[in-house]
Amino acid sequence: MDLRTKIRNIKDFPKEGINFKDITTVLKDKDAFKECIDQIADQLKDKEIDIIVGPEARGFLIGAPLAYKLGAGFVPVRKPGKLPAETISAEYELEYGTDKLEIHKDAIKPGQKVVVVDDLLATGGTVKSTVSLIEELGGEVVAISFFIELEFLKGREALEGYEVNSIVKF
Ligand code: PRP
Ligand code: MG
Repeated sequence: MDLRTKIRNIKDFPKEGINFKDITTVLKDKDAFKECIDQIADQLKDKEIDIIVGPEARGFLIGAPLAYKLGAGFVPVRKPGKLPAETISAEYELEYGTDKLEIHKDAIKPGQKVVVVDDLLATGGTVKSTVSLIEELGGEVVAISFFIELEFLKGREALEGYEVNSIVKF
C-alpha cells in the first residue's frame, strides 16, 4: 500500500505558504492505519525497547499503538501544566519564540531503552527537546521514528548522532 497517497495535503494551513500534511485521512482508514503502525514497527523489530515516548498530541496517535504492538510501555510528553505528578521541562524553538514540553520525573528509569515516536519531522525541534528530557532522566534513546519526514527542512541534521527512521518522505 502506498501510504503517501493516503496523506491529505491542505494548502495554506495553518497559515499561508504552509502545505499541511493531514494524517487524519490515514488514521480513519483501518487498512492504512494498520499499515502505518506495522511499517514503523518493522523498522524497530531488532531492537530491545522498554519505553516508547510520544510528544503531544499527534505523537500519541502513532506512539501508543506502536507501543502496544511492540510490547513496550508508553510515556507521554506534554505541553506545560497537563501532567499531574512532578515533572521536568525543556524549552524548544518555534518559528516565533519558544515553547515548553514536560515529562513526569519518574516516567523513565536510568538505563531504560527508549524510542521516540512522532507523526512528523519538520525542523526537529519537538523531538530534540523530547530527547533531552529522556536523557536528563537517564534513558537511552535507541531510535527516533516518524511517520512523515519533510526532508527539505533538514530536521534530520538537528538529530545527528541518533538513528532516525521515517516511512514517507516529502
Ligand atoms: C507538529 C507535529 C510534530 C511537530 C514537528 O506538532 O505533530 O510534533 O509539529 O515540527 P518540528 O519538527 O519543527 O518540531 P504541533 O506542535 O503542531 O502540535 P500537535 O502534535 O499537538 O498537533
Ligand atoms: Mg506534534
